[in-house]
Amino acid sequence: MAEFEGKVVLITGGGSGIGLATARLLLDSGARVVLAGRGEDRLKTATENLGAGDRVLAVPADVARTSDLEHLMERIGERFDHLDGVFANAGVAPFARSAEVTEADVDHIVGVNFKGVFFTVQKSLPLLADGGSVVLNSSWLTHRGMAFTSVYAATKAAVRNLAQTLAADLAGRGIRVNAVSPGYVVTPMFDSIATTEEARQACRSQVALGRLGQPADIADGVLFLLSPRASYITGQELLIDGGLIKSIPF
Ligand SMILES: NC(=O)c1ccc[n+]([C@@H]2O[C@H](COP(=O)([O-])OP(=O)(O)OC[C@H]3O[C@@H](n4cnc5c(N)ncnc54)[C@H](OP(=O)(O)O)[C@@H]3O)[C@@H](O)[C@H]2O)c1
Repeated sequence: MAEFEGKVVLITGGGSGIGLATARLLLDSGARVVLAGRGEDRLKTATENLGAGDRVLAVPADVARTSDLEHLMERIGERFDHLDGVFANAGVAPFARSAEVTEADVDHIVGVNFKGVFFTVQKSLPLLADGGSVVLNSSWLTHRGMAFTSVYAATKAAVRNLAQTLAADLAGRGIRVNAVSPGYVVTPMFDSIATTEEARQACRSQVALGRLGQPADIADGVLFLLSPRASYITGQELLIDGGLIKSIPF
């Protein structure tokens, strides 16, 4: 039997990049998936490309709005009745020098990357089965300071911390909570930041394994944490970065 047969997993930001790769892998492993994101067209294209029929439910939702999350949970309840896993993955990365960041920028980044993650988990709780698994998407940027990323990196540090506290909070129901921290991963977000081959090479040169990450590299780690193979792992961070943080390329 496939590892995720009969399981239902919610993926926010499931219409592209790491979220979409995770959906594909989960479907290959027998799961049913819920994709949430703001862009209806993006969700529609993703659903068509996944080609998994009624095993995919796509719901437009802005994770920064609790009313959208409540509606999302209603739709999941009607269609699948429960959740076994949640990948709180949606995020935004509008990078800027700190001197140029506006109050609206901070509200937006914090609203999606921190508030959105917190309420994605909280609003999922009534549907999430005891013994379920939650994975939050943090970032390697919580380990090294990088210009342009002050607000983004701080939200990701908050998310990493949330994995620990939620792990303690939800342990009574047997729900595990962990974080993944991707390194440089080639997605629409990465492409919007590293816009030239020179910039991409500068990133690649910092990675011990000598290549940029692919969305499937992260999806593999997410599936592990969602699966029973990680049944004694909670409150942890899994860095999936090709050695970017811990090793010096030589
Ligand atoms: N790529 C990297 O190098 C890297 C490294 C470390 C961490 N990460 C993290 O990985 C996660 C996924 O990013 P990605 O690299 O796969 O880039 P991506 O393809 O741009 O994915 C981001 C997803 O989040 C969704 N999203 C953004 N704002 C949203 C909102 N308010 N409500 C609901 N969904 C929203 C986007 O869809 P819509 O725009 O349609 O809503 C999109 O599908 C992010 O949290 C990012 O911070 C990425």
